[in-house]
Amino acid sequence: MATTLSLFHVSAVALLILSSAILNHGRSTSVQDVCASLDQPNPLAELFPNNATGVLNATLVIIPITLETARRLIPPQYGILEQAYRALIPDFPEGMYPVMVQAAHDHDVQLRAYGITIDDFSRVGFEFPFLDLLGDGYSSFRWAPAQLITAAHDIALEGSRAYGTVVSPAEWEPVCDAYRALPNGATYFKGKSVTTSEFVEVEMSRLQDMTLNPYPLDFFKNITNQPTFANASTCDNMIRWFNTSMSVGEFAPAPVLGRIRANAFPYEGVEKEYTGVYGVQIATPFIENNYLDCQTMRGYAGTGGPGDSYIEGVNSNEL
Ligand SMILES: *[C@@H]1O[C@H](CO)[C@@H](O)[C@H](O)[C@H]1NC(C)=O
Ligand SMILES: *[C@@H]1O[C@H](CO)[C@@H](O)[C@H](O)[C@H]1NC(C)=O
Ligand SMILES: *[C@@H]1O[C@H](CO)[C@@H](O)[C@H](O)[C@H]1NC(C)=O
Ligand SMILES: *[C@@H]1O[C@H](CO)[C@@H](O)[C@H](O)[C@H]1NC(C)=O
Ligand SMILES: *[C@@H]1O[C@H](CO)[C@@H](O)[C@H](O)[C@H]1NC(C)=O
Repeated sequence: MATTLSLFHVSAVALLILSSAILNHGRSTSVQDVCASLDQPNPLAELFPNNATGVLNATLVIIPITLETARRLIPPQYGILEQAYRALIPDFPEGMYPVMVQAAHDHDVQLRAYGITIDDFSRVGFEFPFLDLLGDGYSSFRWAPAQLITAAHDIALEGSRAYGTVVSPAEWEPVCDAYRALPNGATYFKGKSVTTSEFVEVEMSRLQDMTLNPYPLDFFKNITNQPTFANASTCDNMIRWFNTSMSVGEFAPAPVLGRIRANAFPYEGVEKEYTGVYGVQIATPFIENNYLDCQTMRGYAGTGGPGDSYIEGVNSNEL
């Protein structure tokens, strides 16, 4: 049973990739061909050749919003697991909820055993962590309802749309990297829709050390490893590794403080600016298990260590 399901998932991803590749007449008209990224190569492709693996070089920024606003934006059927984020950030202001902006460059994505490498792409969106998708009161899921994604990258655009995500094809600054340095030392990243007036612009300054950031690294590790959904038809299990050579030395996670300007779902039509927001810049390799039945992620213990949200006998990761 387990094998049948596993094979099905691999082939579903492989088929999606292959059919998109055929529609594209191969990968020759690619973004990657016109520019090279500074990102480090994917270290997990060799370890997990049968899985989709890659590198995500990201700026993750927390925007505190009132629980009232959160309740208005998040579909009413999904409870907010306030005690779950309070356990990780006890000093987070009362009555508030942490929305995360994820601005990232997907690099060296591979399905090694199939000889498939996908062109790099960029994406950005507002994401809503710690949601009770299954109504069990303890399993944290992240709602990522909308994304700007590299225009003409059909695999990424369709792969995200298959989750029910509202996707807008976009152009980027910089084109091939997670961010670029400004003359003042800050970092800059902007995604702008090529079909609508939506955009997200992220400008961050690096802080001296992580202790100056109100959100510990474990908080980001926890959020980014929560199973993700859009319209809840299926869930995405992206396992991000925070313990590789990609996260130490010159590549160590950098705490950042800055501003975000955006006109994007769920705020489209209104330009918003958030200043004095904190986050982290970190590149992590990942393994991605796509289009899973969300029910099988009940009690998922992968948000950073054994035990989290785990209830003996209820956990069904092995299904
Ligand atoms: C790799 O893919 C298989 C098949 O989908 C899955 O069962 C397995 O859990 C994946 N490995 C990891 C580390 O996620
Ligand atoms: C992440 O992107 C930045 C900006 O391009 C680059 O300087 C850095 O080396 C990248 N990190 C990794 C681990 O690839
Ligand atoms: C992730 O968050 C959940 C909910 O608060 C918690 O149970 C779990 O221990 C956290 N994991 C880590 C590694 O902090
Ligand atoms: C969710 O989106 C997928 C992909 O577009 C679609 O097939 C499915 O019917 C949608 N489900 C719901 C409940 O809207
Ligand atoms: C690194 O982290 C991943 C994901 O949390 C885990 O599966 C793996 O065992 C860890 N590797 C080491 C060497 O600790």
